[in-house]
Amino acid sequence: MVPVAYAVRPEEPGDAPAIEALLDRAFGPDRWQKRSYAYREGVAPVAALSHVADRPDGTVLGTLRFWPVLVGEPGRPALLLGPIAVEPELSRLGIGKALMRRGLFEAGRQGHDLVILVGDPAYYAVFGFEPAARFGLVMPHEKPQRVLALELTEGAAGDGGDLRSVRAAQATPPNMTGGEN
Ligand SMILES: CC(C)(COP(=O)(O)OP(=O)(O)OC[C@H]1O[C@@H](n2cnc3c(N)ncnc32)[C@H](O)[C@@H]1OP(=O)(O)O)[C@@H](O)C(=O)NCCC(=O)NCCS
Repeated sequence: MVPVAYAVRPEEPGDAPAIEALLDRAFGPDRWQKRSYAYREGVAPVAALSHVADRPDGTVLGTLRFWPVLVGEPGRPALLLGPIAVEPELSRLGIGKALMRRGLFEAGRQGHDLVILVGDPAYYAVFGFEPAARFGLVMPHEKPQRVLALELTEGAAGDGGDLRSVRAAQATPPNMTGGEN
């Protein structure tokens, strides 16, 4: 097998078109229909955690982004990992692993403590992901066996709860209870 020279580096604004094209190739153009995209709609990814794998000439070979989400009420901050994608013809060469390790390392270093994703448990177990249900975490309308979680700080999942979009939480009016009149 011919070795592939690549490095993982922070995403730059100019990478966006190549990333979108790669995501279309990896997931298909109907990827927007996925349940997890509801948490991304109208919300920016965490810029400091977005990384790409690229060739020495700058060609993007892989991408990993994280989105902010909330868990439970009133809303504990967490990260939704993904999408992660690697150029299909270069799969199983370790590029995905390299992106995962860098992304999770940076997430911990930057003070995030809980990461949730939707994916194949066999692939993500090696990074420490466990069924999210074990922490009482639920992604409504998603198959529970594909929802996985990793506590970067022990106990970060707290009492668990439903995943909520940051945007939906912002749209919720403040609780008006407690008034006398
Ligand atoms: C999933 C994906 C990101 C993995 O990237 P990759 O560069 O191919 O993965 P790696 O080479 O780092 O894989 C490392 C290990 O995981 C295994 N692996 C790869 N894909 C796997 C899968 N879908 N299920 C289980 N194991 C898998 C490899 O066999 C390898 O094992 P090894 O280290 O023991 O040999 C890539 O295949 C991809 O882009 N897939 C399409 C998009 C997608 O499904 N993304 C994930 C959505 S949840």
